[in-house]
Amino acid sequence: MPIELGDDSAVFANNEAPSSFVDMLGTAAYRCAAAAMRLGVFRALQQDALSIVSLAATVGADERGLRILTDALVGFGYLTESAGLYALTPLSSKWLVDSPYATVELFWQQVMFEMWDGIEESVRTGKPSVDFYAWLAARPETSRRFQSMLDSHAQMLATEMAPLIPVPPRPARLLDLGGGHGRYSTALCSLHPSLTATVLDYPSALGAGGPRVTMRPGDYLRDDLGTGYDVVLLFNVLHGHPASGNQALLARVADALAPGGVVAILEHGRDAPGPADVAFLRTFSLNLFHGQNGEVYAIDEITSWLTAFDQPTITRLRKSPTQYLITAVRQNR
Ligand SMILES: C[S@@+](CC[C@H](N)C(=O)[O-])C[C@H]1O[C@@H](n2cnc3c(N)ncnc32)[C@H](O)[C@@H]1O
Repeated sequence: MPIELGDDSAVFANNEAPSSFVDMLGTAAYRCAAAAMRLGVFRALQQDALSIVSLAATVGADERGLRILTDALVGFGYLTESAGLYALTPLSSKWLVDSPYATVELFWQQVMFEMWDGIEESVRTGKPSVDFYAWLAARPETSRRFQSMLDSHAQMLATEMAPLIPVPPRPARLLDLGGGHGRYSTALCSLHPSLTATVLDYPSALGAGGPRVTMRPGDYLRDDLGTGYDVVLLFNVLHGHPASGNQALLARVADALAPGGVVAILEHGRDAPGPADVAFLRTFSLNLFHGQNGEVYAIDEITSWLTAFDQPTITRLRKSPTQYLITAVRQNR
């Protein structure tokens, strides 16, 4: 949690001491929390406060090393210590054990402390020094966490999203590129009884599918997309590619759509309601560049790529205000 600076805050605010030192402490705090999560320290304290001897025995760690770590965690606000007993704080108890946010935290810890190692190389050369999806494929547990984060987010958004996408009231076909878990396709098929959907994604990302939702393993950059679709979803896909790649992909999507068919794009914008969201979007953008040669694009830039489409609509999502749904209709050519 943010370090309480107390009387020191004015010194940093007036630039009489380097506030990057506070960032260094914040990074140390985050790394200590990562160590505690990976060692199972928070989980071990879920029921009762424990002495360091009991805690070390429970998590299978060295007593002295664990005492030094837990003392740091007390300083950073993740644990309390009283009469030799360590306990969770409201932060660690609510968010870092058995909460969906714990998955998010474990994912980002690994990204920042492992995958960001070569970030200077990416920036120097202008090419990602890591292939994010290859990096994920080598880490099945991390890959599961990534998919679970996407799935939870999609579950939260699907009911708001589905009615915003125009689907013809007749037997219709939808293609969900990079649709992974299939949550959005499933929601649309539930809303439109004569719709069938194909979700195209890497095999490791595909969910179970369901009634009228077919899972197709493949690579949307290389494989034939087919033709005659009424709707193509590109949800959280364009941010994973450079602008030129997105323009090429949108041209192929236009070819895959029937005349009058609709492309629906879900993306983060660059603006956000609060400073933490703005900071996250910039962090996310750097991560996308480093691992995929993508970035968080301005919504105007995305709509400028829709040269084969008419009638663009842009909707800011209520349940996820940093994200926009863009729909557009394929031109009759
Ligand atoms: C950020 S996720 C978005 C998942 C889903 N559309 C959503 O919004 O929750 C991007 C998805 O695209 C898939 N993907 C990335 N590149 C791909 C490619 N070349 N071919 C197929 N799938 C790809 C990933 O496996 C991942 O499931």
